[in-house]
Amino acid sequence: MNSELKHLLGIKGLGKEQVLALLDSADQFVDVNKRAVKKVPALRGKTIVNMFFEASTRTRMSFELAGKRLSADVINFGASSSSTSKGESLIDTALTIQSMSPDVVVMRHPASGACKLVADHLPETSVVNAGDGLHEHPTQALLDALCIRRKLGTLENLSVSFVGDALRSRVVRSNIYLLKLFGCRVRLVAPPTLAVTEFEGMGAEVFPDMKRGIEGADVVVSLRMKHEYQKDIYIPSLEEYSRLYCITEDRLRDYAPDCMVLAPGPIIRGTEIASDVADGPRSHIEEQVELGVAVRMAVLFLLATGADNKGRDSSSESGIKELVANEQ
Ligand code: CP
Repeated sequence: MNSELKHLLGIKGLGKEQVLALLDSADQFVDVNKRAVKKVPALRGKTIVNMFFEASTRTRMSFELAGKRLSADVINFGASSSSTSKGESLIDTALTIQSMSPDVVVMRHPASGACKLVADHLPETSVVNAGDGLHEHPTQALLDALCIRRKLGTLENLSVSFVGDALRSRVVRSNIYLLKLFGCRVRLVAPPTLAVTEFEGMGAEVFPDMKRGIEGADVVVSLRMKHEYQKDIYIPSLEEYSRLYCITEDRLRDYAPDCMVLAPGPIIRGTEIASDVADGPRSHIEEQVELGVAVRMAVLFLLATGADNKGRDSSSESGIKELVANEQ
């Protein structure tokens, strides 16, 4: 393994070849997940700890499923049922877990930078960021990229628009880092209070109106209003927000008739995305969830085995092929 990628803490810092290597590996695990027996012995004897200090449905379940489908021993750890609820610090919790010799720790936390803090204290363990505060959500960006590449055949030079609460979205930040590696045009569509200028510095364009923000887009991504991080102080009225920014079939037909639609979820129907879009033929929301398991299998496999993911390497590709050929 490339020593720079002992952990997956963000997309920032990854090279294009590393991203492509992860997506190529994930493609092979997609095939495993379509078999009658969805299990391979790739990580037998390895231990994965999932630490989720914040609510999650998709990410938590798919990391657990990914570890189990790779035959690893998987331990799930929630904040309310652990001794953090008695006041144990994050670092002491990490050191306690380190004593049990896990190979990979997967972590979600409401504080930006919490995964890096834990990684700095776990010299023998790989840490995967499953979403930390407003910082990054790298496996979400990887699964979004896999979904786009499988549908459109490429990631190069696409036009991708994110509609909604960019300000509080770690998904947007990881996606901008990834899409910019492939020369994509990235637009953010949001009321001015929710579209941070920081993203312009990362190469994204910010638009306050839907037409200019999504016109001609190849991909439109719906972002949820993240009320859990400060309720309603950025918009005066949710009804008015929905009237201006809800992704409806009429708007897509008028401005981006050929686009595919993604949403990292959870989706709030009628506020950010209309049901006819979420359930319609443009939507790949369910496929995103399906591909999330394969992406997380690829990340866990590459980190836990130390396979060379510096770039596309024929020996590691054939190694994965051989491993996924072996059913449990
Ligand atoms: N997309 C995402 O992170 O969803 P969850 O919060 O349900 O994991």
